[in-house]
Amino acid sequence: MSDELPQCEVSPPTGSSESSPAPSRRGFIATSTVLGGAVVAGGVIGGPSLLGPEEASAADALPSSRVSLTVNGTRRTVTVDNRTSLLDLLREHFGLTGSKKGCNAGACGACTVLVDGRRVNSCLTLAVRLEGVEVTTIEGLADGDQLHPLQQAFIDEDAFQCGYCTPGQILSGVGCIQEGHTGSPEEIREWMSGNICRCGCYVKIVRAVHSTAGRK
Ligand code: FES
Ligand code: FES
Repeated sequence: MSDELPQCEVSPPTGSSESSPAPSRRGFIATSTVLGGAVVAGGVIGGPSLLGPEEASAADALPSSRVSLTVNGTRRTVTVDNRTSLLDLLREHFGLTGSKKGCNAGACGACTVLVDGRRVNSCLTLAVRLEGVEVTTIEGLADGDQLHPLQQAFIDEDAFQCGYCTPGQILSGVGCIQEGHTGSPEEIREWMSGNICRCGCYVKIVRAVHSTAGRK
């Protein structure tokens, strides 16, 4: 879609209402609304477009890019709309729905995955910036039927109820352990504070991370 918005051509008031009438407030709003609808016609909102054929096809061609990355050990190459988040790439393009969309705004941690071993909020990460990286999601954490030690610890400690936050909690816990921020329950709480569990399983989650770090 073009970034160029059509300019609303409204002549300034001249003082002579006969030669160049000033637009009424109602007329101005009507004009703006019609032009605004035309701008988004190629993307979201339907309706008759006021754009010419060339402008309309430019608006239709959303900027997209090709990106290659490795997800859970498998190389993937895909062409995506430049605005696609890593979370949407995983869920909508690759069918990896283990990473959850909670807030979609970086506030809950449900979408946490590892990128080159570092935990990130995938909802805030643009997919097209990830050329060549390695992504690990909850689907790639186990070794066949052998659960990752932190996955097993979540089961042993009964560290989840609804489970919606659990994939993000586990990936964040893996990152926390790899970073060495597990010296005490307080330290784990601090470094896991970006992951919200609305069921309130925090005590057991911290216990699971602490016990797994202790076994390393
Ligand atoms: S969905 Fe990404 S932080 Fe909430
Ligand atoms: S287990 Fe329900 S939100 Fe965490």
